[in-house]
Amino acid sequence: MSLRRLILAAVLSALVLAGAAYAQPKNGVVRPSGETKLPPRELGSQLYAGNCSACHGIDGSGQRTPRKTTEGIEGQGPSLRGVGARSVDFYLRTGYMPISEPDEQPVRRRPLFSDLEIRALVDYVSSLPPPGPPIPKPHPERGNLAEGYELFTENCAGCHQVAAQGGVTTGARVPPLTDASAVQIAQSVRIGPYLMPRFSERQISDEELDSIIAYAELAAKEPVDEGGWGIGHLGPITEGMVTWYFAAVVLVLVCLMIGRRLRA
Ligand code: HEC
Ligand code: HEC
Repeated sequence: MSLRRLILAAVLSALVLAGAAYAQPKNGVVRPSGETKLPPRELGSQLYAGNCSACHGIDGSGQRTPRKTTEGIEGQGPSLRGVGARSVDFYLRTGYMPISEPDEQPVRRRPLFSDLEIRALVDYVSSLPPPGPPIPKPHPERGNLAEGYELFTENCAGCHQVAAQGGVTTGARVPPLTDASAVQIAQSVRIGPYLMPRFSERQISDEELDSIIAYAELAAKEPVDEGGWGIGHLGPITEGMVTWYFAAVVLVLVCLMIGRRLRA
């Protein structure tokens, strides 16, 4: 093998190794090989161990004090015992979880897991005792818009704005409700993600919730002239990949230059 080929091979393997490092939890997720052959509960258990246990504890009972992991994550997070499919499904389908730092606000992005993986994780985490609430089944078509408007103004608009377009509150960005499905609105009202308060069935009944959803969906999805191009949903993986492709081109150019010099 010529020296030039050797250098090229070395650089290529460095590229591959750096790529593998990139796939670690900091920016992406780890998955078991041959995952479609695993039974769902087993797949869920392995995905949990690889992507969640650093912060939520090996057995899902939480990690109160920060603990440094081998991936360099400062692991810390609440217990997932008893939160149920309602919460796990919400946090995964909104792309809120996994986060890379415990004090980061979870934000909506394209989920890092496939539908199969999400179902497996939901199944596994909600199988840990005690049992928690299931994914809700709201009926916004039964709701009353006028009542929804009133309840939304009273309980939600302080943070989300009457038009459900979001904003900022002390210590948190408040998302618009444009991307939230009826199920996700129902989930968030009962869970109270991050700094959002949770509302019990005594505060807001399921019937009232149907009205709130009917109003929120109408208000948020009414056409608004936002202007510009929505590139906000790409997420860190895609952004990282873009950076990476630039770096790869530069490295290959360097390779070619070295090759040319060696030949001359
Ligand atoms: C004190 C402020 C506050 C109030 C009051 C509040 N929210 Fe929120 N809400 C938030 C914040 C902050 C988030 C983002 C949570 C996160 O990033 O983890 C959020 C997230 C959500 C989401 C998820 C949106 C997405 O796409 O990420 C929905 C849906 C939602 N809220 C609906 C409601 C409804 C309906 C009400 C009233 C019943 C309400 N909220 C009341 C602050 C609030
Ligand atoms: C870097 C640490 C970290 C990682 C990794 C992480 N989480 Fe979290 N998780 C947190 C923190 C911190 C919160 C609290 C945030 C909040 O209140 O919205 C949280 C909240 C949650 C909740 C809401 C719990 C509740 O009380 O309803 C669920 C569900 C969840 N995480 C699931 C997961 C799953 C599943 C994974 C793996 C795919 C994961 N998390 C990975 C730190 C982490």
